[in-house]
Amino acid sequence: MKAVLWTAYGPPDVLCMGEIEQPVPKGDQLLIRVYAAGVTLGDCELRSLSFPLWLRLPIRLYAGIRKPTRITVLGQEFAGVVERVGPDVKGFQPGDSVLGGTGMTMGSYAEYICLSEAGSGAALAPKPANLPFAQAATIATGGLEAIHFLRLAALRPGERMLINGSGGSIGTYALQMAKRAGAVITAVDSGEKLDFLRRLGADEVIDYTQQDFTRSGRRYDVIFDVVGKSHYGRSLECLTEDGRYLIANPTPAHMMRSAIKRGGRRVYTKVSARQSADLVALAQMLERGEIKPALDRCYPLEEAISAHRYVEAGRKKGNIALIIAAESEQTT
Ligand SMILES: NC(=O)c1ccc[n+]([C@@H]2O[C@H](COP(=O)([O-])OP(=O)(O)OC[C@H]3O[C@@H](n4cnc5c(N)ncnc54)[C@H](OP(=O)(O)O)[C@@H]3O)[C@@H](O)[C@H]2O)c1
Repeated sequence: MKAVLWTAYGPPDVLCMGEIEQPVPKGDQLLIRVYAAGVTLGDCELRSLSFPLWLRLPIRLYAGIRKPTRITVLGQEFAGVVERVGPDVKGFQPGDSVLGGTGMTMGSYAEYICLSEAGSGAALAPKPANLPFAQAATIATGGLEAIHFLRLAALRPGERMLINGSGGSIGTYALQMAKRAGAVITAVDSGEKLDFLRRLGADEVIDYTQQDFTRSGRRYDVIFDVVGKSHYGRSLECLTEDGRYLIANPTPAHMMRSAIKRGGRRVYTKVSARQSADLVALAQMLERGEIKPALDRCYPLEEAISAHRYVEAGRKKGNIALIIAAESEQTT
């Protein structure tokens, strides 16, 4: 089968088209024909090993010391159709349209992927019939993180919420869900994304390249720092007495400091466990039209290098998808 191979740690050019063996589903595994795969910032960070020093060694131990050997195909989210199932699969059958996230095993930049029905960080859900595959492919990564942190935030209608890094995968889902929960949203991102964020429902916008929200004197009930780049101490000072500070991309320092009590203020740094139940809930919200995937651009699988360049240039608004099956083969 065709796949985009990840040949080395480095720039987008380390990706190349290749042929690998089609996996065979065993036990509780499903073989899924991938119609579209999301391209996330996380894929680019893994490809180039763009992590803080403390994370680089564990990632190399996991993916391959000198070059990627255990993981050779990137891609952590997708939508497609179940082709075959192992003998122990209970909830899906061949022909079902699904969307999913792979967890740390990756592998969705390929014509087929094999995943367990239950567990090991992967999440699967039926694809809503009214959602095209390209959109459905871009839900799992950002959507699961957003639904998890919004549950922790326990927003009440009328509360003020600031989302730092609103314009990307996690942020666009979080913004829409928080708006539906009745929050008043301040969206923070770079200047060229601010109109897009207003259209998505933001009540106020801040260009982080021009203004530091922690120095504005404004108070928020919830600060959701998607990118983990806000100043920790000053962000806490911007919270109301029972405010919540959510950090989706925490450093060890964030995690240690979050254990220190600050009156009624709470800090959450635990990331999503990526459960299928959450993905099913997200798919239902999308089916009802309560939220929508913000799909910026699609690229053919063969242009994965261009897709990675676009993502890491910081220009994407929402999400990017690789199209793997021809339009004529797709059914929605
Ligand atoms: N914890 C987990 O399991 C988990 C899961 C998913 C993602 N993540 C991580 O979380 C981070 C965000 O993920 P994502 O998929 O939402 O990324 P994304 O789609 O690239 O969105 C991030 C957004 O934040 C903006 N941004 C960058 N620096 C900023 C700053 N200093 N202040 C405010 N906004 C800023 C970016 O805009 P510009 O580029 O224009 O500046 C971009 O619009 C990534 O590092 C990803 O690896 C973690």
